[in-house]
Amino acid sequence: MTEISENKAPVLTIDGPSGAGKGAVSAVVAERLGWHLLDSGAVYRAVALAAIDREVDPGDDDALTRLCADLDLTFEPGADGISVVLDGRPVDERLRSEAVSIMASKVASRPPVRRALLGLQRSFRQPPGLVADGRDMGTVVFEDAPVKVFLDASVEVRARRRHKQLKEKGESVKFSRLFRDLAERDRRDRDRAVSPTVPAADAVVIDSTELTLDEVVGRLLDLVEARLGREKEN
Ligand code: DC
Repeated sequence: MTEISENKAPVLTIDGPSGAGKGAVSAVVAERLGWHLLDSGAVYRAVALAAIDREVDPGDDDALTRLCADLDLTFEPGADGISVVLDGRPVDERLRSEAVSIMASKVASRPPVRRALLGLQRSFRQPPGLVADGRDMGTVVFEDAPVKVFLDASVEVRARRRHKQLKEKGESVKFSRLFRDLAERDRRDRDRAVSPTVPAADAVVIDSTELTLDEVVGRLLDLVEARLGREKEN
């Protein structure tokens, strides 16, 4: 049973597979609304980084539970937006490494880790509101959120976006390999037993394949206004 937070600040949940543009969309929408932002992927990545640094086996649930209980993790305003600070040090660069991505998907599949991180994620729900970016924001963490979106895009477009990003960083990876890995990761995320990446029953599904960032942002702002405007009238 999911406990529902006492704090009723509005939440816009944005879930979906990797590469659908959730990160960019969430940051712009949070800025435009003046709301807080939760990048829940960064929370799982921080646990993964701590597990690597402390040599915790991702199959050892007890050790992972202790790691989460001891986690010294804060999100602080930095020069390029919000900075993730682990044990007093900013770790933004390291969070994006391939080793951390692989470990993050392992720790994220462990139910005790997901349970241990619920309180931390829910603590972001503060007035005037929260934009929550992830996989299970609308289905588990903020089940009672008034506005839920599931942002999708074709595997082809997501693989192309990722390919372009990597090329800009000077990394050359074959497109066919990226495409295959992404399709495989989608299948794993969708089919996993705990918190699979699926739309909540009451989520609005937006396919961003043919849309620009501005168009997606516009749709989300319209949805928030329509829903919260209606709530004020009632
Ligand atoms: O969105 P991302 O790539 O930063 O996420 C990192 C990992 O954490 C990825 O394997 C998906 C997982 N994740 C999750 O299981 N639940 C969330 N709410 C957010 C991320």
